[in-house]
Amino acid sequence: MLTNLNKILSDARKGGYAIAQFNFSDLEVAQGIAEGASEMGSSVIFGASEKAIEYAGIENLVDIVKNLSEQFSQIPMALHLDHGKTFEICQKAIEAGFTSVMVDGSKHPFEENIKLTRKVVEFAKGKDISVEGELGMVADLKKLEIDKDAIVFPTGEQAREFIEKTGVDALAVGLGTAHGLPLPDERIHFAVLKEVADAVSAPLVLHGGSNLPTFDVKKAVKMGVCKVNVDTELRQAFTGAIRKDLKDKATLDPREYLGDAREAIKQAVIRKIKEINGEH
Ligand code: 13P
Repeated sequence: MLTNLNKILSDARKGGYAIAQFNFSDLEVAQGIAEGASEMGSSVIFGASEKAIEYAGIENLVDIVKNLSEQFSQIPMALHLDHGKTFEICQKAIEAGFTSVMVDGSKHPFEENIKLTRKVVEFAKGKDISVEGELGMVADLKKLEIDKDAIVFPTGEQAREFIEKTGVDALAVGLGTAHGLPLPDERIHFAVLKEVADAVSAPLVLHGGSNLPTFDVKKAVKMGVCKVNVDTELRQAFTGAIRKDLKDKATLDPREYLGDAREAIKQAVIRKIKEINGEH
C-alpha cells in the first residue's frame, strides 16, 4: 500500500517507535528494501534524493515503488523526496507520484526557511502528501571536515515557531550527525533532541542514521525520533557484496552479483529495523 508519512508515523511518537527511511536509486536496492521490510512486517519509507532522480529518472523511481507497493500490499510504504532544496523539485516530485517530500531550507536564514517550507506545504495541501522540513543542519561530511563549528543546533522555541508557521508534518532536526561514513566525533546531541522534543509534538526525524551506536539510536527513538534515515549502511552492504562476488567468482552475469547485492540489502534492512525498534 502506497501512502504518506502521516499514516505511517501517526502513532510513532506515542508508541515510542520509529520507521526507517532507506534511500535507493535503482531496482535491486528498492527490491531489497521491500523484501527486508516485508520480512519484518514493518512499514517502510523509500527515500529518493535529487541525485537519485537525476541518475534514474523520476518516472522510473515512482514506477519501481508503485510496483513494489502492489507486490507487497500488506506493508504500508511511502515514497519520499529526500532533501528537496527548491520548491520546483518538490512540486516535480509530487506531480510525478511521490507521496511525501522533504523540503530542506536549512541553508537559508530562519525566516527564508519558513517561507520556502510553507510554500511547499501549501502546494501539498489537499493532495494527501506529507511534508518534512529541516531545522539546524545535517552536516555534509566534506564541509564538516573543513569547519566543524559550522553545525547550527536549533532551539526548542525555533522548532515550535517553525512548525506553527509552516504546518510541516515531520521535522528533521540537526543533532550533530552527518551523512556518509562516520566522523571521529560524530554523535547525537541528546540535550538538543530533548529540548526540541519537549517543545513540539510532531514526529522528529534523525538524518545521518548509519553507523551510529545502537544504544544511541534506540535512546533517540525513545525520546521522540520517529523516522531514521539510512543510506550509507545500504551502500556499504550493496557495494561490499558486489566487490566480493567480482573477486571470488568469474561471472559475467550481472544478475548473479546484483542478485547477491539485493540479498545483502535485504539483510541490512532487517538488521537496521531490528536495531531501531528491537524485534518488532
Ligand atoms: P547516512 O548517510 O548516515 O545513511 O544518512 C542518510 C540520510 O540521512 C539521508 O537523508
